[in-house]
Amino acid sequence: MSIAPFPDRARVDAREKVRGAALYAADFAFPDLLHAMMVPATIAKGRVDAVPVEAALQVPGVVRVLTATDFPPPVPSPTAGAEGPPPPPPMITAEIAYRGQPVALVLAETLEAAIEGGEAIRPRYTPDDAFAPLIDSAGHRAEPVEPVTTGDADAAMARATTRLRAEYVSPAQHHNPIEMLSTTAFWRDGVLTVHEGTQSTSGAKGAVLRNLRLEPDQVVAKSPQIGGGFGQKGTPQRQTAIVAHAAMLTGRPVKLVLPRGQIFHNASFRPRSRHRVEIGADASGQMIAVRYDADHQQSRTGQFSPAEYLEAAPQMYGLTDFHGTAANIRIDTQSPGYMRAPHPHPSCFAFESAVDELAAMLEQDPVAYRLRHGTNHDPIHDRPQSSNHLHQCLREGARRFGWDRRSAAPGSMRLADGTQVGWGVAAGAYPVHIHPNIATLTVRADGTTRFAAAAHEMGQGIRSTIEQVLVRELDIDPARLELAIGDTSAAAQHTTAGSWGTASVVPAALEAAGRIKAAMAELLATRQVAGDLHRQLAAVRRPSLSVEVTHIPHGQGAEELATFRQGGMALAGPFFPAFTTFSYIAHFVEVRVEPRTCRVRVPRVVSVADCGRVMSPRTAASQVRGGVTWAISAALREETEVDPRYGGWLNNDLADYVVAVNADIGEIDVSFIDEPDPVVNSLGAKGLGEVAMVGCAAAVANAIHHATGTRLREMPFRIEDLL
Ligand code: MOS
Repeated sequence: MSIAPFPDRARVDAREKVRGAALYAADFAFPDLLHAMMVPATIAKGRVDAVPVEAALQVPGVVRVLTATDFPPPVPSPTAGAEGPPPPPPMITAEIAYRGQPVALVLAETLEAAIEGGEAIRPRYTPDDAFAPLIDSAGHRAEPVEPVTTGDADAAMARATTRLRAEYVSPAQHHNPIEMLSTTAFWRDGVLTVHEGTQSTSGAKGAVLRNLRLEPDQVVAKSPQIGGGFGQKGTPQRQTAIVAHAAMLTGRPVKLVLPRGQIFHNASFRPRSRHRVEIGADASGQMIAVRYDADHQQSRTGQFSPAEYLEAAPQMYGLTDFHGTAANIRIDTQSPGYMRAPHPHPSCFAFESAVDELAAMLEQDPVAYRLRHGTNHDPIHDRPQSSNHLHQCLREGARRFGWDRRSAAPGSMRLADGTQVGWGVAAGAYPVHIHPNIATLTVRADGTTRFAAAAHEMGQGIRSTIEQVLVRELDIDPARLELAIGDTSAAAQHTTAGSWGTASVVPAALEAAGRIKAAMAELLATRQVAGDLHRQLAAVRRPSLSVEVTHIPHGQGAEELATFRQGGMALAGPFFPAFTTFSYIAHFVEVRVEPRTCRVRVPRVVSVADCGRVMSPRTAASQVRGGVTWAISAALREETEVDPRYGGWLNNDLADYVVAVNADIGEIDVSFIDEPDPVVNSLGAKGLGEVAMVGCAAAVANAIHHATGTRLREMPFRIEDLL
């Protein structure tokens, strides 16, 4: 089946969003609502001996204060011990593992009373002063993961005539979506309903029912719109079960919106990671050997794996002799986790900086050098990649950027006022995952249509990609199309993350549309009825037509489908049984380094992505602009810093945690190869959100090197690094 390109359409919820009419989790109003506020620990490690609550209860409006003794002991996640996402949130406990961990929850009639009550609480602690909050203090490389290896990297390295060896660092960072972490829960008629901005209504439901000892049919989680997730809202959140428990104890709806400073200490974060890269080239300049060792900061109990740092590099250049290792460094912090392009952003920063350094040593043009390599073969698993258009991305990007006007020598491009100009290139790869889906599609004679499936709208435009399929396949009224996603009561849900959302839902939409068409044809038999599907149903006196379809990705079967139905993670890819699938991107970046101040500006970026078939040109381009913006922010601005004396995050607000603003971002030219992947799914859609960011920070570093001759290997790059 050939898949025609999709037309440009406005995103489905654009008008609601700009009018402020789109409802987010904390916007839902409930009568008799209690407001909650958490009390964070002020020690970095130790025990809570007592939480005196009298002062808080004196505050007018404070109703109740919950402490560790009010909570059942936490239930470990079914995946505990396995490498995977961070553990689900335990309840409030007396053992303190990191500064900022919640020690109490204040419930009050007003938000102001909850805040004042929280501030009145002075817990007594027995601190353990032997805490290690920094990766370089007491931490050591622990529990190395299984190495990723192919060929014989040591022997190939010995044959190399040119070797590049360098270490690169990506700092700790926090996501900072506009929408705060929040949970609103109520307990009614034996059912607990949880409203939360989450990329995983299934995960929120699971954490609640496990920790509160409820049955699956007693918990509903809803997340119709998310104001930015980026992985922070992809794994169970610290507050969810705590707030749900408060709603059950009080019998009233309870709402908690975490202040941003508390979010820094309670959410997951991007861990600081170090990447030692060694590349060997033969006499012709070809890369023949790579050794890659990565490690990252980790909590004492966290499970966020460092293994995936080793995934992207071998896929990009067909490296046949590769050896990679990865390890945790355990310290006293909350558990780190997924943050946009979690592993490929830091690893492609490192590897694509190293490739640039090597090309410079060999006096080769960095675009031409990359084009000398590359393959459609997965060397680690020795099987084909289903599609890889990285070379087309590089060629098209070079053309759009005007790369042939670049003068090769670092420091050779200057403006009249002495500003140094640099042009850099780098590439990125991101794994393609797909989960099962069970979708129901109902078309009604009254003019409405409802599609319910597993997916979450976190701002990326997933409703727009679903609408593209349904509206192209079916003659229905798009204005009255309801897309019921992010709701465990509408359909079985799965975590939406890792850029797998679209590719995991649009095949189900296509199949459901096909089944509706067939059912309608059967209904009409030989009759000719004018008008759209709604009119046709009315003509044959059928109020509605409904189908349910199940989509199972390559390599999965009944076992994964059962896991999905139970709310678990059921991911196929990127290493499917017969092929490997990654999305690719090439970024071209111009930097200007101002004379005297050495301030770095980025006036223009050209990015060309291979995400398979582009499902929604409008929202896809927005995803790439967002990813590039974040990469510039990561390269030049963002770092969360630890206070070594007290163990907490220092710059825990948007005044001190510096993100790129409009003035930091210039022109971003986005385009797509838009070639459907021939096998990965019925629409040829791979994934886009995260690959958009990958490699772009390396392109900034490479451009700074081209502008100044200075090689920066630790993000963020600051003025003082160039003075
Ligand atoms: Mo993403 S960091 O996998 O939500």
